[in-house]
Amino acid sequence: MSLLATKSLVKHFGETHAVDHVDFTVREREVLALIGSNGAGKTTLVNLISGLFPPDAGQILFQGHDVTHMSVHGRIKAGIARSFQLVNLFDQLTMLDNVALAIFSREGKTRKLISLAGTDRAVWEEAVETLRLFGLEAKARMLAGGISQGERKLLDVAVAYALRPKLLFLDEPTSGVSTREKAPIMDTITSVVRREGISAAIIEHDMDVVFNYSDRIVAMHQGAILADGTPAEIRRNEIVTTTLMGTATAS
Ligand SMILES: Nc1ncnc2c1ncn2[C@@H]1O[C@H](COP(=O)(O)OP(=O)(O)OP(=O)(O)O)[C@@H](O)[C@H]1O
Ligand SMILES: [Mg+2]
Repeated sequence: MSLLATKSLVKHFGETHAVDHVDFTVREREVLALIGSNGAGKTTLVNLISGLFPPDAGQILFQGHDVTHMSVHGRIKAGIARSFQLVNLFDQLTMLDNVALAIFSREGKTRKLISLAGTDRAVWEEAVETLRLFGLEAKARMLAGGISQGERKLLDVAVAYALRPKLLFLDEPTSGVSTREKAPIMDTITSVVRREGISAAIIEHDMDVVFNYSDRIVAMHQGAILADGTPAEIRRNEIVTTTLMGTATAS
């Protein structure tokens, strides 16, 4: 059984068929890359699965349960978390506070945050440990607004990871960082994901990153799934190479 399966999922924005009858699966313990040119529907698919807005039709099954109409919070509790294409951090808070806030919210303690600050030792220890996993502990007391773009991208992943998901969606975790920084970021993310035995579905445009780090690749085009296979299969797939990589080279 797949960890996640969408059944003929549909989302239209006016005339735009952003997600058009998509059957998308994520398996247990896999690192999956979701690729496709700009506007292919990748972020919309993740928005539907994470519950940001409802689909027009279709179903979302997580561990065999229908979560199509569940709230965002319900899905987080069930084990689905995501990071954002544009990072979603509190710039005026420290890195540590950003992670702690995610842990508090996971525990349903957000409203008590101010009174609990500094007193809930287990949360702060977990926040430090989470930053350590992502190689960020040395800067734990720095404001999220004052760190580098690469560190911000990693912190955003750490915040999603702090929700303790079984399935982690990452929307372009290496966008906006230099080519040199991409490999260390992906090394860090995939080592945490693989060590913890969770699944990750990573939206990514950089094909070197896609081929080097994923077990399986799903390619989208104009709201539909164009191909699904191992990196070797996708490399040999002429439809993908002409439609996506051809487009990428031309643009
Ligand atoms: N909230 C929205 N309202 C209207 N149209 C939207 C909305 N979100 C997405 N779209 C449209 O749906 C289509 C798919 O967009 P989406 O953001 O899912 O693509 P994407 O594959 O993530 O692209 P990119 O690689 O540029 O991030 C695009 O035509 C986009 O303009
Ligand atoms: Mg997108």
